[in-house]
Amino acid sequence: MAEVPSLAGQPETFLTLQMILFRGRIRRFEPMNAAMRGIRDAEAEALARFAAAPPPPAPEGARDAQRAVRGRALSAGHRCGVCHLADHAGQNQVPRLSGQREDHLLHSMRDYRAGARQGTDVSMQAVPYGLSERDLADLAHCPATVPVGR
Ligand code: HEC
Repeated sequence: MAEVPSLAGQPETFLTLQMILFRGRIRRFEPMNAAMRGIRDAEAEALARFAAAPPPPAPEGARDAQRAVRGRALSAGHRCGVCHLADHAGQNQVPRLSGQREDHLLHSMRDYRAGARQGTDVSMQAVPYGLSERDLADLAHCPATVPVGR
């Protein structure tokens, strides 16, 4: 639903680590901080296995071909695929972008740019630096609307 990220098909390691970040209130969002309070590591791992198992959803957003092409070029130019992989499928602690909700991707990148979201490492802190609002919007539009794996 709006503003709530899809968990399906995310790398298990990414999901586990985000739960640990919410538990420790390092990543802050009150409903998630409350939900993760006191969760044990093994429980977080089991939840991540369960949530990651379904395949990623088919993209729902209406695709604007020009914006998708521009987003893909920005992604290539900024080497997002070095970590997120060329098809944006994600790996290990790096989340899947393809098939993710567009509103969530944009929200996340704005948070990293503003320094409002701490990750498990500093990988994303510098990425959105100097990118315009239009750049972020197109970087979100591309993986959210291009069929997964392409
Ligand atoms: C050096 C590795 C690296 C590069 C390069 C990189 N990312 Fe990331 N990205 C990560 C990691 C690691 C995370 C998870 C960080 C955390 O724990 O919050 C992440 C998280 C994200 C998220 C949050 C997704 C979510 O579900 O919350 C978005 C959106 C994102 N990256 C987009 C991009 C885009 C677009 C680019 C290129 C402009 C990019 N990343 C380049 C490593 C990278």
